[in-house]
Amino acid sequence: MITVGIITVSDKGSVGERVDLSGEVIRDMMIDAGYDVKEKIILPDEVDQLKKQMITWSDENKYHLILTTGGTGFSPRDFTPEATKAVIDRDVPGIPEAMRAHSLTITKKAMLSRSAAGIRKQTLIINLPGSPKAVKENLEYILPALKHGIEIMIGSTGECGNSK
Ligand code: MTE
Repeated sequence: MITVGIITVSDKGSVGERVDLSGEVIRDMMIDAGYDVKEKIILPDEVDQLKKQMITWSDENKYHLILTTGGTGFSPRDFTPEATKAVIDRDVPGIPEAMRAHSLTITKKAMLSRSAAGIRKQTLIINLPGSPKAVKENLEYILPALKHGIEIMIGSTGECGNSK
Protein backbone atom coordinates (compact mmCIF):
# COMPACT_ATOMS: atom_id res chain seq x y z
CA MET A 1 0.00 0.00 0.00
CA ILE A 2 1.17 3.54 -0.70
CA THR A 3 1.96 5.33 2.57
CA VAL A 4 1.08 8.97 3.13
CA GLY A 5 1.97 11.72 5.60
CA ILE A 6 -0.10 14.90 5.73
CA ILE A 7 1.19 18.27 6.96
CA THR A 8 -1.22 21.12 7.54
CA VAL A 9 0.82 24.31 7.51
CA SER A 10 -0.91 26.87 9.69
CA ASP A 11 0.30 29.14 12.48
CA LYS A 12 -3.19 29.26 13.98
CA GLY A 13 -3.84 25.54 13.55
CA SER A 14 -0.53 24.67 15.22
CA VAL A 15 -1.60 26.39 18.45
CA GLY A 16 -5.15 25.06 18.40
CA GLU A 17 -6.78 28.30 17.24
CA ARG A 18 -8.12 26.78 14.02
CA VAL A 19 -9.67 23.38 13.33
CA ASP A 20 -7.73 21.44 10.69
CA LEU A 21 -10.53 20.92 8.18
CA SER A 22 -8.18 20.82 5.17
CA GLY A 23 -6.02 18.07 6.65
CA GLU A 24 -9.17 16.09 7.34
CA VAL A 25 -10.36 16.50 3.75
CA ILE A 26 -7.00 15.17 2.52
CA ARG A 27 -7.05 12.24 4.94
CA ASP A 28 -10.62 11.23 4.00
CA MET A 29 -9.98 11.52 0.26
CA MET A 30 -6.73 9.54 0.44
CA ILE A 31 -8.28 6.76 2.54
CA ASP A 32 -11.23 6.58 0.11
CA ALA A 33 -8.70 6.31 -2.76
CA GLY A 34 -7.03 3.30 -1.08
CA TYR A 35 -3.91 4.95 0.38
CA ASP A 36 -2.45 4.15 3.80
CA VAL A 37 -2.48 7.45 5.72
CA LYS A 38 0.14 7.05 8.45
CA GLU A 39 0.20 10.50 10.07
CA LYS A 40 -1.46 13.89 9.92
CA ILE A 41 0.18 16.75 11.76
CA ILE A 42 -0.15 20.53 12.00
CA LEU A 43 2.97 22.73 11.85
CA PRO A 44 3.42 26.51 11.97
CA ASP A 45 4.67 28.40 8.90
CA GLU A 46 8.32 27.84 9.85
CA VAL A 47 10.64 26.74 7.05
CA ASP A 48 13.07 24.84 9.27
CA GLN A 49 10.33 22.84 10.97
CA LEU A 50 8.73 22.03 7.64
CA LYS A 51 12.02 20.93 6.12
CA LYS A 52 12.87 18.77 9.14
CA GLN A 53 9.47 17.02 9.03
CA MET A 54 9.70 16.35 5.29
CA ILE A 55 13.23 14.95 5.68
CA THR A 56 12.21 12.70 8.58
CA TRP A 57 9.17 11.31 6.77
CA SER A 58 11.20 10.77 3.60
CA ASP A 59 14.49 9.41 4.94
CA GLU A 60 13.41 7.63 8.14
CA ASN A 61 9.73 6.75 7.81
CA LYS A 62 10.09 6.27 4.04
CA TYR A 63 6.56 7.44 3.30
CA HIS A 64 5.85 7.32 -0.41
CA LEU A 65 3.85 10.55 -0.45
CA ILE A 66 3.81 13.74 1.62
CA LEU A 67 0.89 16.10 1.04
CA THR A 68 1.02 19.57 2.53
CA THR A 69 -1.84 22.06 2.71
CA GLY A 70 -1.44 25.79 3.21
CA GLY A 71 1.28 28.38 3.03
CA THR A 72 1.42 28.49 -0.78
CA GLY A 73 0.11 32.02 -1.22
CA PHE A 74 1.49 35.54 -0.90
CA SER A 75 1.20 36.22 2.82
CA PRO A 76 4.49 37.21 4.49
CA ARG A 77 4.68 33.84 6.27
CA ASP A 78 3.77 31.63 3.27
CA PHE A 79 6.94 29.61 2.69
CA THR A 80 5.74 26.03 2.14
CA PRO A 81 6.99 25.87 -1.51
CA GLU A 82 10.41 27.19 -0.44
CA ALA A 83 10.69 24.52 2.29
CA THR A 84 9.69 21.86 -0.23
CA LYS A 85 12.13 23.03 -2.91
CA ALA A 86 14.92 23.03 -0.32
CA VAL A 87 14.54 19.30 0.41
CA ILE A 88 13.71 17.75 -2.99
CA ASP A 89 16.24 16.11 -5.31
CA ARG A 90 14.05 16.40 -8.41
CA ASP A 91 11.43 18.96 -9.36
CA VAL A 92 8.02 17.70 -10.56
CA PRO A 93 6.57 20.78 -12.25
CA GLY A 94 3.73 18.98 -14.04
CA ILE A 95 1.68 18.42 -10.90
CA PRO A 96 1.41 22.08 -9.80
CA GLU A 97 1.02 23.07 -13.46
CA ALA A 98 -1.93 20.69 -13.76
CA MET A 99 -3.44 21.87 -10.48
CA ARG A 100 -3.24 25.51 -11.49
CA ALA A 101 -4.54 24.84 -15.02
CA HIS A 102 -7.55 22.98 -13.65
CA SER A 103 -8.13 25.40 -10.77
CA LEU A 104 -8.10 28.38 -13.15
CA THR A 105 -11.26 26.95 -14.71
CA ILE A 106 -12.85 27.35 -11.25
CA THR A 107 -11.35 30.60 -9.91
CA LYS A 108 -8.90 33.22 -11.19
CA LYS A 109 -7.41 33.25 -7.68
CA ALA A 110 -5.84 29.87 -8.52
CA MET A 111 -2.95 31.81 -10.09
CA LEU A 112 -2.08 32.99 -6.57
CA SER A 113 -1.01 29.54 -5.39
CA ARG A 114 2.78 29.10 -5.67
CA SER A 115 2.54 25.36 -4.91
CA ALA A 116 5.49 23.13 -5.78
CA ALA A 117 6.06 19.38 -6.04
CA GLY A 118 9.14 17.20 -6.17
CA ILE A 119 10.81 13.92 -5.29
CA ARG A 120 13.18 13.35 -2.39
CA LYS A 121 14.67 9.84 -2.63
CA GLN A 122 11.52 7.66 -2.89
CA THR A 123 9.07 10.21 -1.54
CA LEU A 124 6.86 12.45 -3.65
CA ILE A 125 6.06 15.77 -1.94
CA ILE A 126 3.12 17.88 -3.16
CA ASN A 127 1.91 21.25 -1.89
CA LEU A 128 -1.83 21.88 -1.92
CA PRO A 129 -3.38 25.29 -1.18
CA GLY A 130 -4.88 25.92 2.24
CA SER A 131 -8.67 25.98 2.07
CA PRO A 132 -10.73 22.77 2.25
CA LYS A 133 -12.40 23.76 -1.04
CA ALA A 134 -9.07 24.25 -2.80
CA VAL A 135 -7.73 20.99 -1.36
CA LYS A 136 -10.68 19.02 -2.68
CA GLU A 137 -10.62 20.64 -6.13
CA ASN A 138 -6.87 20.13 -6.56
CA LEU A 139 -6.58 16.67 -5.06
CA GLU A 140 -9.48 15.15 -6.96
CA TYR A 141 -7.91 16.40 -10.20
CA ILE A 142 -4.44 14.93 -9.63
CA LEU A 143 -5.49 11.68 -7.90
CA PRO A 144 -6.11 9.68 -11.10
CA ALA A 145 -2.45 10.10 -12.17
CA LEU A 146 -0.79 9.94 -8.76
CA LYS A 147 -0.64 6.19 -8.10
CA HIS A 148 1.04 5.49 -11.44
CA GLY A 149 3.72 8.12 -10.79
CA ILE A 150 4.43 6.79 -7.31
CA GLU A 151 4.63 3.20 -8.58
CA ILE A 152 7.21 4.26 -11.16
CA MET A 153 9.11 6.26 -8.52
CA ILE A 154 9.39 3.26 -6.18
CA GLY A 155 10.07 0.85 -9.05
CA SER A 156 6.98 -1.34 -8.65
CA THR A 157 6.05 -0.77 -12.29
CA GLY A 158 7.91 0.41 -15.35
CA GLU A 159 4.90 0.29 -17.62
CA CYS A 160 3.31 3.44 -18.99
CA GLY A 161 1.18 1.61 -21.58
CA ASN A 162 -2.57 2.05 -22.04
CA SER A 163 -2.41 5.53 -20.59
CA LYS A 164 -5.40 7.81 -20.84
N1 MTE B 1 -7.41 26.54 -6.10
C1 MTE B 1 -8.65 26.05 -6.17
N2 MTE B 1 -8.87 24.96 -6.91
N3 MTE B 1 -9.68 26.58 -5.49
C2 MTE B 1 -9.51 27.68 -4.70
O1 MTE B 1 -10.50 28.12 -4.07
N4 MTE B 1 -7.91 29.34 -3.83
C3 MTE B 1 -6.76 30.15 -4.23
C4 MTE B 1 -5.54 29.37 -4.67
N5 MTE B 1 -5.89 28.11 -5.27
C5 MTE B 1 -8.21 28.25 -4.60
C6 MTE B 1 -7.15 27.63 -5.34
C7 MTE B 1 -6.39 31.18 -3.27
S1 MTE B 1 -7.63 32.26 -2.84
C8 MTE B 1 -5.11 31.36 -2.81
S2 MTE B 1 -4.69 32.75 -1.94
C9 MTE B 1 -4.05 30.39 -3.15
O2 MTE B 1 -4.62 29.18 -3.60
C10 MTE B 1 -3.03 30.11 -2.03
O3 MTE B 1 -3.64 29.51 -0.93
P1 MTE B 1 -2.83 29.21 0.43
O4 MTE B 1 -2.05 30.43 0.78
O5 MTE B 1 -3.91 28.90 1.43
O6 MTE B 1 -1.94 28.03 0.21
